Amino acid sequence: MRKRSITEVDVRGRTVFVRVDFNVPLNDDGRISDETRIRAALPTLEHLAFSGARVVVASHLGRPGGRIQLDLTLDPVARRLSQMLERPVTYNGLTLGEEVDAEKARMKDGDVFLLENLRFHPGEKANDPEFAAALAGGIDIFCNDAFGTCHRRHASIVSIAPRCASAVAGLLVKTEIDQLSPILESDFPQGVLLLGGAKVADKIPLIRNLLGKTGTMLIGGRIAYTFMASRGEPVGASEIEEEMIPHCRDILDKAKKKGIRVFLPVDHVAAVTPEPNITIRMVNRGETIPENMMGLDIGPRTVALFAQELRRADLVVWNGPMGMFEHEVFSAGTIELARALAGSAATVVAGGGDTVAAIRRSGAAEQLTHLSTGGGAALAFLSGETLPGLQVLEDINP
Ligand code: 3PG
Repeated sequence: MRKRSITEVDVRGRTVFVRVDFNVPLNDDGRISDETRIRAALPTLEHLAFSGARVVVASHLGRPGGRIQLDLTLDPVARRLSQMLERPVTYNGLTLGEEVDAEKARMKDGDVFLLENLRFHPGEKANDPEFAAALAGGIDIFCNDAFGTCHRRHASIVSIAPRCASAVAGLLVKTEIDQLSPILESDFPQGVLLLGGAKVADKIPLIRNLLGKTGTMLIGGRIAYTFMASRGEPVGASEIEEEMIPHCRDILDKAKKKGIRVFLPVDHVAAVTPEPNITIRMVNRGETIPENMMGLDIGPRTVALFAQELRRADLVVWNGPMGMFEHEVFSAGTIELARALAGSAATVVAGGGDTVAAIRRSGAAEQLTHLSTGGGAALAFLSGETLPGLQVLEDINP
């Protein structure tokens, strides 16, 4: 899958609209708690500013529902972006209108101008052509570098593209495609699909699309309990999705027919409720989770079993934490597996907001091949879905 990229067009003196994904988490005091997504957009923004483009940057932040929400302005992002780029970033708290047009017209080569949160306008989510046309006003080149939002059919992702003289992928989008595409294009008999997380329904398309591509599948996290239940194994009071049991059974049957090795947890960290300071109980191999308790993390034997499989792999695709890692007491399974992977020779590609956050907490992030900046977008891509943001670039540059 090839996309025309920003380095293939002459940008000097051109006004470039760069759609980025600055949907960063904010603390209660409004400070950015994780700037990964800003950092990920820097190569494109630096390339453009350095090459003499006039760079208009736009993003959404949160889900303000088409109205101005003061705690979701991009003001803190503008300040941080300016520090990271080491150059001034103009920001006037506006997305559209005369003052924005005037600002665009005033820009000089190398200038950077950040627009206000696109989702303060209902037209963004509605993919409204008029809103898109207004965003495209005074713009020569549209550059999509918002991989994390490419699964959204929104105005600044889709409708804007044909309204600019050219439309290209940014460097982050290109990197994400380069890293994720090979997984879909070949089979990896020595590969491992490592799955966790909370909702089976979210993972089914991914599992169905990748089933058979890797020779081994390891399943932890809350989803493992629905898989266990589908095999008739006792799960105590663990949360399961009854309606997904037939899907899990079908997947396990298909895996068996294809000769795929599937591993589920053999021991668990359990508790009565998923609270941070709750008393935990280790449920060892051969024991069953007590009726009043739920499994909230994989246990040490499962960690050892999974780590052994991961160490033998040449490719690991990881989506979803192994337990309720946001509480320290249930985070060991996820953290230990991230550390096991840090020492492996495998190509490791991880996607999903929680998975990547957990890997960062483990300290292993720098040693893994690719941590996708896309949560829903990475999941959709690996599930084989067509991402509207990528499709439009392909339609424009066949
Ligand atoms: C994300 O955080 O996954 C992207 O920024 C998309 O955000 P959304 O789920 O609110 O559309």
